[in-house]
Amino acid sequence: MYPILEKVKIAEDACLLRIRAEHVAKGEPGQFVMVQHTELSEPVPLSILEIHKDGFSCLVKAVGRSTLELVEEAKDLYYVAGPLGKPFPVKKYGVVAFYTFSWGIAPALNVARALKEHENKLLLCHTSEDFYLKEKAMSIFDEFFSLDKSEAIRADLFVTTGSNQLPMELSSLHPQTPIVSMVNTHMLDAVGLCLVCRILVDGAQKLACVDGPWFEAHKVDWASLMDRERAYQEQEKVALEEYKKMLKRKSLRS
Ligand SMILES: Cc1cc2nc3c(=O)[nH]c(=O)nc-3n(C[C@H](O)[C@H](O)[C@H](O)COP(=O)(O)OP(=O)(O)OC[C@H]3O[C@@H](n4cnc5c(N)ncnc54)[C@H](O)[C@@H]3O)c2cc1C
Ligand code: FES
Repeated sequence: MYPILEKVKIAEDACLLRIRAEHVAKGEPGQFVMVQHTELSEPVPLSILEIHKDGFSCLVKAVGRSTLELVEEAKDLYYVAGPLGKPFPVKKYGVVAFYTFSWGIAPALNVARALKEHENKLLLCHTSEDFYLKEKAMSIFDEFFSLDKSEAIRADLFVTTGSNQLPMELSSLHPQTPIVSMVNTHMLDAVGLCLVCRILVDGAQKLACVDGPWFEAHKVDWASLMDRERAYQEQEKVALEEYKKMLKRKSLRS
């Protein structure tokens, strides 16, 4: 078991977790973990927000059954694997403009901290209403801009997190500028065996868990990725509704 040392609700449907898991403490910027609440829960990929001596912290946004379970019920975790995936390529680029959506602020902050040490100028456009960790972002990023200014923004590198839609749109807006994007796929084992996270990059099959999660956005087939991600939407909806009913029964009993 991995104890949750601290759990802070930052919204009705989101929380920050600080987890003791010493093996994750060697994680590098841009890596992620797989966590599982109980033996019967689904494993969920979560980005590392910050590394601590005895583990790490992360941000959880409830979008379905498993993330809601982490927000509502988890006091400790049955399983924590990591650090996983390839780290973000940290170096001096010049001006780096981030686009984040929802929980995407967590991996963005983790990567931005490291890019700052390499003297990059950092810009941020947060594109959803749920702007968590805003104060932290204000202490790391140099400038903020809104989505409607996108066309005018000049950067040496764009970075996107938390959305598959954003990098697709950005690729056509800035065809000449490199874009490094965190790909969002369902994941099961996260070590390259189940192929659940496969995507097409430059026409070749890649695995988001071991080859990613960071890819050059211009090369990713976003349309086919988003199509596949929608495949189990109906079942995911039912699982969420059933879980909410169970939570309600539990609260009525106590
Ligand atoms: C590398 C990586 C890092 C991530 N980091 C974080 C993080 O730091 N914090 C966080 O809260 N979430 C993060 N996620 C997303 C998180 O893993 C998913 O939201 C979660 O697996 C959904 O599980 P669920 O059972 O709650 O919802 P599901 O029932 O699986 O899905 C509910 C809805 O969300 C959509 N969905 C499911 N998984 C994803 C996904 N990966 N991306 C986009 N939409 C999805 C489904 O299509 C469906 O509409 C990360 C994902 C990846 C791949
Ligand atoms: S999650 Fe199984 S191969 Fe990537």
